Amino acid sequence: MMLRSRLVSLSWMWLLLSVCQSHGVTDDKPNIVLIMVDDLGIGDLGCYGNDTVRTPNIDRLASEGVKLKQNIAAASLCTPSRSAFLTGRYPIRTGMTSNTTNRVIHSLGVPGGLPVNETTFAALAKKEGYSTALIGKWHQGLNSRYRGDHAHHPHKYGFDFYYGLPFSLYNPCWPDPSRDAELAITHRVCVCVQLIAVTALTLALGRLTGWLCVPWFLMLLMALFIFLLGYFWLSSYTSGLYWNCIMMREDEITEQPMKADRAETIMMKEAVSFLERNREGPFLLFYSFLHVHEPLPTTEAFIGTSQHGLYGDNVEEMDFFMGKLLSAIDNFGLRNNTLVYLTSDHGGHLEARLGHAQLGGWNGVYKGGKGMAGWEGGIHVPGIVRWPGVLPAGSEIEEPTSLMDIVPTVAAVTGGTLPQDRVIDGRNLMPLLQGKVQESDHEFMFHYCGSFLHAARWNPKDSQAVWKVHYVTPVFQPPGAKACYETKYCTCSGDLVTYHDPPLLFDLSRDPSESTPLTGDTEPLYDLVINTVADALEEHKKTLTPVEQQLGVELNEDSIWLRPCCGVFPFCMCDKVGDVSTLEA
Ligand SMILES: *[C@@H]1O[C@H](CO)[C@@H](O)[C@H](O)[C@H]1NC(C)=O
Ligand SMILES: *[C@@H]1O[C@H](CO)[C@@H](O)[C@H](O)[C@H]1NC(C)=O
Ligand SMILES: *[C@@H]1O[C@H](CO)[C@@H](O)[C@H](O)[C@H]1NC(C)=O
Ligand SMILES: *[C@@H]1O[C@H](CO)[C@@H](O)[C@H](O)[C@H]1NC(C)=O
Repeated sequence: MMLRSRLVSLSWMWLLLSVCQSHGVTDDKPNIVLIMVDDLGIGDLGCYGNDTVRTPNIDRLASEGVKLKQNIAAASLCTPSRSAFLTGRYPIRTGMTSNTTNRVIHSLGVPGGLPVNETTFAALAKKEGYSTALIGKWHQGLNSRYRGDHAHHPHKYGFDFYYGLPFSLYNPCWPDPSRDAELAITHRVCVCVQLIAVTALTLALGRLTGWLCVPWFLMLLMALFIFLLGYFWLSSYTSGLYWNCIMMREDEITEQPMKADRAETIMMKEAVSFLERNREGPFLLFYSFLHVHEPLPTTEAFIGTSQHGLYGDNVEEMDFFMGKLLSAIDNFGLRNNTLVYLTSDHGGHLEARLGHAQLGGWNGVYKGGKGMAGWEGGIHVPGIVRWPGVLPAGSEIEEPTSLMDIVPTVAAVTGGTLPQDRVIDGRNLMPLLQGKVQESDHEFMFHYCGSFLHAARWNPKDSQAVWKVHYVTPVFQPPGAKACYETKYCTCSGDLVTYHDPPLLFDLSRDPSESTPLTGDTEPLYDLVINTVADALEEHKKTLTPVEQQLGVELNEDSIWLRPCCGVFPFCMCDKVGDVSTLEA
């Protein structure tokens, strides 16, 4: 009798163990899909309260996962914010800052970039046996010492596969609508120049070997002509289009210049094919949208379909592509074993306007936007995490989280270890997401504008308050405006900022729009908060060590010798893609 019951309980235990184990095998090494939308405002999504822009796919993702309601970017511009996302570290630690007005990598011809001794989430996952890929925008540098050295290529940071735009979408990339005609003309000029160059070379060879008699002055004229054409080519007004708007597959340039309105379609095809190749897993895919950055290249099918002009059309098209990606995950049977994370690199760009048309995003109730590191609108971004069966569907978290949390979270779910020789500012999100703890580890966060500290937040334990202390704020222009319309981006230092002493204080839990600063008269805790945050700031500063500024004057200087080229320099032009029908994936 005893023996039998023991056997029964043993077999029960065995059953339990094996169930746990098989559960463990699938859940311990989930696939990871990280999705970053470019310049998307938190107020642009249905699931964050927008009732006129249609984003059904993202809204569904939110209802199936956890919605983060205080998800904070480490910087308010692309390059530094993405560097922090990739490394889990404040840009001030990695050198992805500057004290000049250049706060991003401003061309593909600059030698700066994310230092290769930084460890990204891709490198962590790769070490644990994951296939890794980056598809889309990079904006962390490319070449360093010579053209094509690819010292800052995604391959150097743990991404096995890369397809995308190594720079960033910006206005020259989509000079619509005369674009096609202009391209055709430049193409013809290019072919002409090449023909002339070949002729001249033949003549020169003929002259040198003596079988041809051409007067030297004709040769000189020819050389001068080629020199002039080359010069115009290099310095032509379309140079941004040719030198920065390129697409790459692995180490090869596939399009120079890119055709912006079909780029996302090709990217999505690459993403789906990566998922298919790796359906046996485990894999980590970082899908980095070109949407919804200016100049908003949008396909015909979406133009004029939203209630918010070209910007709204572009957001809705982005959601359409999200749907493609999510259904590919479903179709390959990957849904239950894949952690999906969606965010934006920073707030919407308020100053992006063309006449009366708004070309940048909407940050809901939050003040300010892209480029403003202190005001909430610059850094308060959407955050959605789905992992069916592991994370509760349809829940919301008010606690502070950071884009820098992804590195430790990836380490936790892949079984990897974080580098021990440096400070990691992110925290593992899993306990909070699974409801195992109620409070986030981010008691303090520091909000840098370039290398200048503008503000800090304090989420005290056991309190609803979210204190925000501002030391520096940008001066909005023209007077009375709600953003920096005259300079297009707010600056971090100098004449166009206000230094606050005593600092400005807000409690975001009562005043999310940061509309009325609290004072010693209106807030009994004023002194306590200001002093506590000042102490935390001192402690934080002690953890900083000097690093070379990657975005400052020297490393952000454009050189034509570093610009990528898919032909014979300076005749850089190619299209290795051929015809693509858009919107398919
Ligand atoms: C929805 O988003 C659009 C586009 O950014 C914006 O103009 C509009 O104000 C938003 N509406 C709400 C209710 O947030
Ligand atoms: C900016 O940093 C450089 C060193 O990288 C320094 O020489 C310069 O004085 C700094 N400028 C300002 C305005 O802080
Ligand atoms: C995925 O998980 C859900 C519950 O979490 C379950 O209902 C569904 O059958 C699972 N699907 C697959 C394909 O395992
Ligand atoms: C990376 O190398 C730079 C330059 O040698 C150094 O200053 C920095 O501390 C290194 N970073 C890490 C994380 O080791």
